Amino acid sequence: MISRRSLIASGALVGGSVATGLFLRRRHQMLPETDHAQMGAGSRHAGHMMRSNGDRLLALPEGASLPELPRLKNTATVVGRFEGRLAAGPANAEFVRGKPTEVWAYNDTSPGPLIELNEGDDVALTFENKLAQTSTIHWHGLDAPADQDGNPMNPVAAGMSRTYAFRLRADNTGPFWYHPHPHGTTAQQVYMGLAGAVVVMPKFDPLAALPQTTLFVTALSLLQDGRIAPNTMIDQMNGREGDHILVNGAKNPVLSVQPGSSRRFRIYNATNGRYLRLALPQQSIALVGTDGGYLSQPVSNQSEIILAPAERVEIVVTFQPYAGRVSLQDLPYDRGWMGPGKPAAEARPILTFDVRGALEEAFALPSHLRDITPLGDPTASKTLTLGEKMGMSPSGMSMEFLINGRAFDMNRVDLTSRVGEIEVWDVNNPTDTDHPFHIHGTQFRVLKRSRNATTSKAPFLGWKDTVNVARGETVRLALPQHLRGRRIYHCHILEHEDQGMMGQVDVV
Ligand code: C2O
Ligand code: CU
Ligand code: CU
Repeated sequence: MISRRSLIASGALVGGSVATGLFLRRRHQMLPETDHAQMGAGSRHAGHMMRSNGDRLLALPEGASLPELPRLKNTATVVGRFEGRLAAGPANAEFVRGKPTEVWAYNDTSPGPLIELNEGDDVALTFENKLAQTSTIHWHGLDAPADQDGNPMNPVAAGMSRTYAFRLRADNTGPFWYHPHPHGTTAQQVYMGLAGAVVVMPKFDPLAALPQTTLFVTALSLLQDGRIAPNTMIDQMNGREGDHILVNGAKNPVLSVQPGSSRRFRIYNATNGRYLRLALPQQSIALVGTDGGYLSQPVSNQSEIILAPAERVEIVVTFQPYAGRVSLQDLPYDRGWMGPGKPAAEARPILTFDVRGALEEAFALPSHLRDITPLGDPTASKTLTLGEKMGMSPSGMSMEFLINGRAFDMNRVDLTSRVGEIEVWDVNNPTDTDHPFHIHGTQFRVLKRSRNATTSKAPFLGWKDTVNVARGETVRLALPQHLRGRRIYHCHILEHEDQGMMGQVDVV
């Protein structure tokens, strides 16, 4: 089917040397004091940080080679086990020459190292918290037991460490990720740089012959002096979109590919609050996977891919059979907007492919990727309604983001589920903006969407852990929970999560 020389190594990122842009050094000298303390850690009141873009650094170098994500070293000595270490702490970056930026990084790199796991692995990951504040590491999409899942209920204090240990369930495969999940300060820790990719490879991989590239998308806002900008009121309300979209830590980097060649890409939306609407004109794109791994079969001829915050996809791109440059574009997406500061609706290139070299033969996708069996009839149901409330408080405008009329309270359990029971969740969004809804500890099926009296079924058979619920829409999900324990569910616009759009479910 294909004739290809190297490029086969699992996870190999090809296309040139590691780029500049995310060289980080251990922080050994003092940086000027940042205003993190006043960034409102845990506060529901964003104060009056209504900054204009005038004090932002709006030009960043582009066009370096796509950086390769460093891989987390596996120190286990037996097959089927992964042991590793992640230390979170401040590190220095230089996005713009001569303007040092303090970022918060795992193992001194942001995005954090890529963790490559295999289906069914035994995992032990030791987290060292070298930040000056409480944190956790949450394993987004992996079904780790509740007390190993880095929930806000299990904080790791500054200077402390702990080991997260879990065994992966068979069939829990796909592009997952990790990020902090402390109570009230998740948004800040993520936009400061703490997030990384995980991939769990299936035992049987029908696309093993294709070269693989991880595209980990984050958003960055810098002040004129190079510091990461604190959240503004606009960010607090709508979720931080960032001024710059970075792929593997670089702005509009370049990847060389051969004409006619096919390649698989895992794309992660690891931004706090930016919707990505991705298009790659003239190239042939097949959707092969979503948050929870492969679909039952590929869906060809995708003209665009929309990724709400925290969503992931895997696609196979077959490139044009002639040389030239083509860019992956982020197109405007109307997710609704609260208050002033709505970003200009403009398309921007976020990654450029330099198509050149010898013509390759395209890969013929198999028609079947994975068995996805029906879940069975649901025996329980839940209805969740998302809400927003705004008001004035002595310190400025205050906001609350709610589920079923209530803001998150760690001392209140909102729902109960039973292990193994198939449940239907109807998630309603009567607000004026879209909200990406996420549940911990499991993967779900999207059954249908209803909006303005029209109902549509899911266009493919696959697993997800995060789904966009557009304004005015109701999304119906079906899911089992696999393990006992206390789980959370929330909007994955991290500012909304921090401000209360989250709840707890006891799985018994
Ligand atoms: Cu990506 Cu509750 O998390
Ligand atoms: Cu999660
Ligand atoms: Cu939200």
